[in-house]
Amino acid sequence: MKSIWGDDCNDFKPERWIEKGGTIKHEPSYKFSVFGAGPRTCIRKQMDFTQMKIVAATIIRNYHIEVIQQSDHVPEGSMVSHVKIGFKIKVCRRP
Ligand code: HEM
Repeated sequence: MKSIWGDDCNDFKPERWIEKGGTIKHEPSYKFSVFGAGPRTCIRKQMDFTQMKIVAATIIRNYHIEVIQQSDHVPEGSMVSHVKIGFKIKVCRRP
């Protein structure tokens, strides 16, 4: 939503999650509500974030990823966030 994330909310910009100093940017749970918020927040949230960072670091270290088709990221209504028409990328193993 533009009202929450700004005009570039549909752009693929992973750097939006990184502070200028290189640390991970904190977003309040009521803004980034994937794991819920308040007293019923997902109890696995911290572990899930750690797991996602391990997976992302492993992929980025071993593969080069190129965006083939930048499209509007219309979200699919689901328990987990995914894109309705997909997100085309080309994946090549790093030498
Ligand atoms: C990416 C993976 C996950 C996402 C997106 C996710 C998301 C959520 C959400 C949205 C809630 C509901 C919060 C609410 O009721 O307001 C929740 C609750 C919960 N999640 Fe997760 N979850 C994930 C993985 C896990 C895993 C792997 C476990 C356990 C091994 C887990 C355990 C729980 C439990 C026990 C609750 C209930 C907490 C409570 O009601 O006090 N979640 N999760």
